[in-house]
Amino acid sequence: MNNKNPIFFKEQIIKLLSSKGDDFNGLLNAGFNAKLLSIGNTVHFRGLIEFSNICSKNCFYCGIRSGNKKLTRYELNEQEIIDAAIFAYNNRFGSIAFQGGERTGKEYAKKIEKIIKRIKQLSNNNLGITLSLGEQSSETYKRWYESGAHRYLLRIETSNKELFSKIHPNDKNHIFEKRLECLYKIKELGYQTGTGVMIGLPYQTLDNLADDILFMTNFKVDMVGMGPFIEHADTPFYQPETDILPLKERFDLTLKMTAIMRILMPDINLVASTAMQAIDPLGREKALLSGANIMMPNITPSKYRDNYKLYENKPGRFENPDDSLSLLSNSITKVNHKIGWEEWGDSKHYKKNICENLV
Ligand code: 5AD
Ligand code: SF4
Repeated sequence: MNNKNPIFFKEQIIKLLSSKGDDFNGLLNAGFNAKLLSIGNTVHFRGLIEFSNICSKNCFYCGIRSGNKKLTRYELNEQEIIDAAIFAYNNRFGSIAFQGGERTGKEYAKKIEKIIKRIKQLSNNNLGITLSLGEQSSETYKRWYESGAHRYLLRIETSNKELFSKIHPNDKNHIFEKRLECLYKIKELGYQTGTGVMIGLPYQTLDNLADDILFMTNFKVDMVGMGPFIEHADTPFYQPETDILPLKERFDLTLKMTAIMRILMPDINLVASTAMQAIDPLGREKALLSGANIMMPNITPSKYRDNYKLYENKPGRFENPDDSLSLLSNSITKVNHKIGWEEWGDSKHYKKNICENLV
């Protein structure tokens, strides 16, 4: 591929995103081989704690948007969060990830800070902590980093400003530039920085997706979390004004995006997203075979899971954490991967960049 001519390069990405049949299978295989060559067949876990579904934002696509009045809102208390982290630690997970609706404010920042510190202490600094808590002030990002969180995932959702404004309300809570600025702040502070997009959104084109890939490579992202868009009945996008791709096509497109990302950035961490499993029970395993290397098993206490429904058919809502884990371990072994128990599984891309900056 010619990386020097961006227009030519973009056309090639669009061509790959349109591939079918043997070309499609060849692309996924190339993604898988690029992964084997660069980071091998180890899968690292981030035990996912969905600690609150309270959100100040109102994104058109999301089931826990503030405008959804049908939802029972919850927030795990400190002990419940600690217990979930201990579950991860006792089950030899290398890392946990906090995900929640977007909230700001001093009290909230302090609460998270306290929990990060306790988990670090309880695990003798052995558990890695990833945060996915949206847009925050520089000060909050800094405090959380200094407390011990070392990765941050903030999906840009789409790198196209116009599309961003079609999938979010047009108000001061949903500003493309602000989200972008947050990503730069996170990176500057030293976090391993992750971003990603949804695939198959209303109004989205292959051209947009190719731009997303170029955006992530130019940003020199350390981690990528992407997934198919899946409608939720209580959102404005349940029946969008425009035609959208069938679910199967959104799924295949996500596999293609995964493989292309892996080929272009062989040493990043790439998540096999839960949304893939919502479309196909073996969706995450198929993502592993296209280049993904990270999985986020849900370790949220079962009683809360049904209320963290970002989209319809979200898997694992009725399983308990022990069951989900053994099911998952078996299916990973079946596709000839191994699990990096007790390892942080940091992005090699991040480590390499740090070393390059030191010399
Ligand atoms: N379908 C797929 N992914 C979704 N997200 C939110 N709503 C949906 C949906 N309907 C994703 C967004 C967000 C992440 C937490 O979940 O990308 O960043
Ligand atoms: Fe809130 Fe994130 Fe859902 Fe938007 S996508 S409504 S910020 S939880």
